[in-house]
Amino acid sequence: MIGQGPVPIAQRLDALGRACPLLACPVCARRGTRDVPLAMSGRTLHCPHGHVFDVARQGYVNLSGTGQPRNADTPRMLDARDRFLASGVYEPLRTAVVEACGTPSRLAEAGCGTGWYLAGAAAANPGATALGMDVSVPALRRAAARGLASVVADTWAGLPVCSGCVDALLCVFAPRNAEEFARVLSPAGRVVVATPQTAHLAGLRAMLGLLDVAGDKTERLAEQMGGAGLELAGRRLVEFEAACTLDQLRDLVAMGPNAFHEHAGPNGPGTITVSVLVSVWTRTAR
Ligand SMILES: C[S@@+](CC[C@H](N)C(=O)[O-])C[C@H]1O[C@@H](n2cnc3c(N)ncnc32)[C@H](O)[C@@H]1O
Ligand SMILES: [Zn+2]
Repeated sequence: MIGQGPVPIAQRLDALGRACPLLACPVCARRGTRDVPLAMSGRTLHCPHGHVFDVARQGYVNLSGTGQPRNADTPRMLDARDRFLASGVYEPLRTAVVEACGTPSRLAEAGCGTGWYLAGAAAANPGATALGMDVSVPALRRAAARGLASVVADTWAGLPVCSGCVDALLCVFAPRNAEEFARVLSPAGRVVVATPQTAHLAGLRAMLGLLDVAGDKTERLAEQMGGAGLELAGRRLVEFEAACTLDQLRDLVAMGPNAFHEHAGPNGPGTITVSVLVSVWTRTAR
């Protein structure tokens, strides 16, 4: 799943079928009944109450029930992200995220983007079910092409996932809905969160006038997770410097939210500082 070309549609459908036991009907959830199971037959998912969801020809399924948000990642941003991540600069970060997952049987990621981190976790846990969720259809097409079960879902609207069934839930540089994360965790499950720190890409941001990282992210994270009954079980600061080519720097800038803002462009190779906190959250012992 790592570094291979697009997998055939049969493999994508197989991945979705294996993840199906984790999925819950979003329509029934909106009407007040949680955890109504979905079953897959052919290229549709359906619940016992007659709600049907077609699998797209690229192998993902839309369970969001809404259109694409205006600020969803564009194909151009995703091309840049694919190139940058494949170049290996963030490999130490992916390794830390994967190690923080432990040895799960059921993995999921909220805001998985193109699925690069989730694919790494799946590769490290052969036989585990891996479910990627994101609001961006173009991102999920790419996640599905990696062989990950890929579901369009808005984290804020509630995850289309059965309660208590995820052993490791990843959230890497993506929106967090702590209540939902806590709800879907299995009893011994964990949430693995990666949050950029103030020093993350600080030199590059200062030089090019890029968006700032909110300085209080760690405190806000602790508040959010604590409020949902989750406690910190471990943390690791992944901090390193990396020499990047001009193309890598261009892709790094183009793959994130700066793509939507005015800024200067890099004009030569340079060294970046990566500073990301990988934290692990488990249910508070009672
Ligand atoms: C910075 S990207 C990170 C993607 C991926 N985790 C990675 O690091 O490669 C943030 C991701 O969150 C997704 N996202 C934004 N709002 C979301 C929401 N409300 N629900 C689910 N995903 C969302 C975006 O589409 C995007 O793929
Ligand atoms: Zn239903």
